[in-house]
Amino acid sequence: MLKFAKNLEISKPQVEKGLTSTPKKIKPLQNKKIKMLKINILKIVLVSLFSIRSVISFADEGMWLPIYADVISGNMQKLGCKLKPEDIYNINHSSLKDAIVQVGDFCSGEIVSDKGLLFTNHHCGFDAIASLSTPEKNHLVDGFWATTIKDELRAEGLTVSILVYMKDVSKEVNEAEDQELQKAMIAGEAEEEGKYTAGVFSMFEGAEHYLMVYRVFRDIRLVGTPPEVVGKFGGDTDNWMWPRHTCDFSVFRIYAGKDNEPADYSAENIPYKSAHSLPVSIKGMKEGDFTMTFGFPGQTERYLSSYAIEQNVNSNYPAYVKILEERLAVMKAQMDADPKTNLAMASDYASLANSWKYFKGVVEGAGETGFIQTKKQQEKEFIKWVEQDEARKKEYSNLLNESEALYTNSTEIKKIENYINVAAFAPSFTGFGFKFYGLKEPLSKKEDAKSIVEQITAEMPHHFKDYLPESDKKMFASMLKLMHDDLPETQQLSIFSSKTFLKLKEKPGNSVYEQYANLVATKSMLFNEQKSSAFLKKPSLKKFDSDEGVRYILSVVELYQKSNMELYLFELQNESLQKNYIKAQREMHPDKFYYPDANSSMRLSYGQVKPYSTRNKEFKNYYTNHYQILAKEKPGDPEFDVPKKLHDLLVAKDFGQYAKNDTLNICLISGNDITGGNSGSPLIDGEGNLVGIAFDGNWESMISDLYYDPAYARTISVDIRYVLFMIDKFGGAKRLIDELVIKN
Ligand code: ARG
Repeated sequence: MLKFAKNLEISKPQVEKGLTSTPKKIKPLQNKKIKMLKINILKIVLVSLFSIRSVISFADEGMWLPIYADVISGNMQKLGCKLKPEDIYNINHSSLKDAIVQVGDFCSGEIVSDKGLLFTNHHCGFDAIASLSTPEKNHLVDGFWATTIKDELRAEGLTVSILVYMKDVSKEVNEAEDQELQKAMIAGEAEEEGKYTAGVFSMFEGAEHYLMVYRVFRDIRLVGTPPEVVGKFGGDTDNWMWPRHTCDFSVFRIYAGKDNEPADYSAENIPYKSAHSLPVSIKGMKEGDFTMTFGFPGQTERYLSSYAIEQNVNSNYPAYVKILEERLAVMKAQMDADPKTNLAMASDYASLANSWKYFKGVVEGAGETGFIQTKKQQEKEFIKWVEQDEARKKEYSNLLNESEALYTNSTEIKKIENYINVAAFAPSFTGFGFKFYGLKEPLSKKEDAKSIVEQITAEMPHHFKDYLPESDKKMFASMLKLMHDDLPETQQLSIFSSKTFLKLKEKPGNSVYEQYANLVATKSMLFNEQKSSAFLKKPSLKKFDSDEGVRYILSVVELYQKSNMELYLFELQNESLQKNYIKAQREMHPDKFYYPDANSSMRLSYGQVKPYSTRNKEFKNYYTNHYQILAKEKPGDPEFDVPKKLHDLLVAKDFGQYAKNDTLNICLISGNDITGGNSGSPLIDGEGNLVGIAFDGNWESMISDLYYDPAYARTISVDIRYVLFMIDKFGGAKRLIDELVIKN
C-alpha cells in the first residue's frame, strides 16, 4: 500500500488502480424521480424508435444499485434473465444479494456454501496468502489446501462485509443544513449500537445519497489457493489482456460467533450461515447467454468533461506511469536479490505493477480509440441544447468554458501534487516520518507533546517490524532524482538547496541522490528503531531540527503547503462544476435512467457472453481452452510455467466432470460493465448460478472507467469449471466440492 499523508489532506491519488483498487464518491435518482422516469420510459418506448435506443442502449453498460433491479428488469429479461427483481434484492426474504460480499475494502467475492465458503480472486487473496507464507512454507509459490476445516488458516486483518440493506436517504440529506453531519447521524443510528457498520454514500456528485448497512465479519480464514504461477498465470505480461488463461481464484471461509453474527477471531467461532449461497452451474455458457456480475466497483468517472479527461491522459497518468515504472524497477532489483524481501514486497509490487499497466493502457487507449473526440462531439450537442432555452443558458452556458479554464490552468499544480503523493512519499520511512511532523509545533512552542509522542511510540514497532532500510534507501535515492529532474525550478524541495545537499559532489556510480539517501539512512532516527525510541523518550527541538530525515519530511510538507491553497480551490471549483455538469447531462436526457459512477457501493451489471474484434484483431471465441495453456507453457518462466501436476492432468485430459468432450474451458468474456473493486465478483447466469469469477478487463477497454464502449468493453472471468477442476483434481480438496450445490 502506498502511504499517504492524511493529516495534510494530501488526497490519495488514484494510483492503486485496477480491479483491486479502492473507491471514491457516487450518485443515482430519488424515488419520486424514478417513478416519473419509469412512466417516461413507457411513454418514450411508444413514441419513437430513437428514444427506445436511448433507454435500452444500456444493454451492457451500467453499474446499477440493486435496489433498482425493478427498473432494469425488463431489459435483463430480454437478454435471457429468468430472475425477478425480488430474487436479486430483497430485505424481507433471502435473495442473491445475501451471497455477495465485499472483501476488505478492495475486492468482491461470493458465498458458495451454507458453511460460509467464499470464492474471490487469487489477486484479492494475494496479500493474505503472502502474509501467511514464509520462504520455507511458501503458500504463494506452492499453493495451499486445508485438508480439514481445522487446517484453515486465520487471515489476520482481512474482513468481509455483507450488505444488510440499502436505503435512499437523499431527501433527509439534501434538506439538512450540514449534510456531512446529517449523513453521519443517519449512519450512526443505522449501526444500532455496534451491531452493524453503516455509511451514507453520495451519488451523482452529491445529488443523491444512499445509506448502506453491513455486517462486517472479522474472522476470515484461508481455505485454499492454487500456486501463484497458476493463479496469476501470464503474470504482468498477460495482465489486462484477452485472450487469458489465468486461474485467478482463492478460497476463504467466513467465521461467525455462535449467534451467527460477526465476532473477533476465536477458535470457538463457527462457519457463517448466510441467507443465500450461490449454486454452481457446470453446464457451460454459450455466446449470447445472459450474464450478471454483482459486486463492489471502486471508481469510475463517466461524466467528466473532455478537459478533465485530457488533463488525466496527457499529464497526470503519464506522470504516474513514469514514477511507478521507476518504483517497480527499484523494487524488482531488491526482490530478485533476496527471497525474504521478495515475499515482503510481493503484494505491493503486484498491486503497483497492476496500476502501472492500467494507467499506461488508458493513455494508449485514449490515443487509439479517439474517445475524447466523441466526448467533444457530445459536448457540442450539449452546448446546442443549452442554447435552446433561456433558463438553461443562465444556468449552464459557462460550464464547459469554466471546465476548460480550470483544467488548463491546473496542470502544473496537479503535477506537483502527483509527485508529492506518488514519488516523495514512496519510501516507506516517510509514512512513519510524517507522524513526526505533528511534533514540530509543540516542540518549537515548548508545548505538551505527550499524546503525539505516545501515538508515534505505539506505532513504532509496527513500522520497524518488517522494515527494509537498505531497499528503502534505494527507493529514496531514486525518488529524489525523479523529483529533482522533473519538477520546475521554482517548485523544488528545499533540501536540494540545503548546505548538506549542496556539499555533495556527483561521483561515478554514486550520485548525489544516493549519497544523500545514504546520509539520511545512516543518521536519521526514521531509519533506526533505537534512535527513534531514544528520541521519543526525550524529545528535544534540537534533535528534531537536526535530523536529516525529519528535514526531508519538512521540506515535502513545505512544498505541499506552497500549493495547498491552489489545490484546495481547484477541488472546490471542480466539485461544483462537476455537480452541475452531471445535473445538466441528466436533464438533457430525461428519458434515460442514469446509473451513478462507481464508488465501492454494491452494484450489479448485466450483459451477454460475447467475443469482440478490433480494427486489427478478431477474437472469434468468447472462451479460451486448456490446449492454449500447454501452448503458452514455458518451463521455469515465472509467468508461464505450468506445475508438473497440472501439466500432466491437462495432457491426460483428466478433467472429471468439468469438461465435456476433450476440452477444458479456461476463461470467458462477456459485456458486463465492471471496474476495480469488482475483482472476485461472481459471473452469474440467467438462473442465478455461479458460472465464473470476474477478474479483469481487456486491453481494448482500458478507457472504460472514463467511457464505456460496448463494442470493446469486456469482463474477463475464469470459467467456474476450471476453478472446480483446480480444487478437485489439482488440489485434491474434494471436501470443498462436496459443500457446493452443483448443477450439471
Ligand atoms: N488487472 C487485474 C485487476 O486490476 C488484476 C490482475 C492481477 N494480475 C496481475 N498479473 N497483476 O484487477
